[in-house]
Amino acid sequence: MTKHTVAILGPGGTGGLLAALLSRAGNRVVCLARQATADTLRDTGIRVRSRRFGEFTAPVEADTELREPVDACVIAVKHTTLDAALTRVPSAVLGDALVVPLLNGVEHPAALRARYRPGQVAPAVIRVESTRLTPGLIEHGSDFVEVDLTGDTAARPRLEALAATLSGAGVTTRVLEDETTALWSKMSFLAPFALLTTRYGLPLGEIRTRHREELEALVAETTAVSRACGAPTDPARALARYDAFPPAAKSSMQRDAEAGRPLELDAIGGALLRAADRHGVPVPVAARLVRELRAAGH
Ligand SMILES: NC(=O)c1ccc[n+]([C@@H]2O[C@H](COP(=O)([O-])OP(=O)(O)OC[C@H]3O[C@@H](n4cnc5c(N)ncnc54)[C@H](OP(=O)(O)O)[C@@H]3O)[C@@H](O)[C@H]2O)c1
Repeated sequence: MTKHTVAILGPGGTGGLLAALLSRAGNRVVCLARQATADTLRDTGIRVRSRRFGEFTAPVEADTELREPVDACVIAVKHTTLDAALTRVPSAVLGDALVVPLLNGVEHPAALRARYRPGQVAPAVIRVESTRLTPGLIEHGSDFVEVDLTGDTAARPRLEALAATLSGAGVTTRVLEDETTALWSKMSFLAPFALLTTRYGLPLGEIRTRHREELEALVAETTAVSRACGAPTDPARALARYDAFPPAAKSSMQRDAEAGRPLELDAIGGALLRAADRHGVPVPVAARLVRELRAAGH
């Protein structure tokens, strides 16, 4: 199988896991990070503790910015630091590489296409639970890591080649035809989960019992916006998925709030409201929750 040279911007929970898996499978991996993190990664590599892959350490290269062309650059920072972090990936150095953002949300692909060539941007959706405990130490808590690669403007053979490399590293990877549907499917599931668990500081089990009406209303609003954006999703299926989750499940936005970290509220709640506004879809529950979270200082 072809080996790739992959840059990973933001070797945190998601980026660090992919960096370590790709390196372990024989690919060349260059992590792009702040100086202190880059120094640590160069010295220690990335250690992963995983329910799926066991415990292992993989060496990686690390730098504070991209200095040579690569095959693909995975963008694995949070929305809150995206603009600052992208200065580490100069368009002129990147060459023809695929740019593969893993971020939740629906607005970042347009921002990346404005900065790089549209044809090289291939947004991905990642399903995983993975946490960076310290620089270079990743805890992969889910027994899966799944990536859906999309990219309406990217060449399909290039997506297939990267998907093969990710699959070869142990990441369950699919190439999906329709970027809007891929991104909105994740958003439709995530937005109600994130907004409600964070607003009330409760795990999903209590949201779906104590705040059932609000959950159902929010799912209806979100699926209506998704449909208006060209990505039909089924509210009954979304509710069934919440009901199947373990009751103690928390959203990552909620965990960020508990830890006092900045929230991806604008990329998820804000983007939902902007899309609703563009398409004239009423979203009173989403609007109130976003307002209340912002009023609480998030
Ligand atoms: N973690 C998950 O399980 C998961 C699952 C699905 C989707 N997602 C989505 O994936 C995206 C990434 O989340 P994550 O959980 O992987 O984030 P994370 O663990 O917080 O990692 C982000 C990384 O970005 C680095 N960073 C921050 N500012 C930077 C800058 N200016 N330059 C370079 N690096 C910078 C941080 O390193 P330093 O602090 O050392 O700089 C950190 O390593 C988010 O949109 C999230 O919603 C995450």
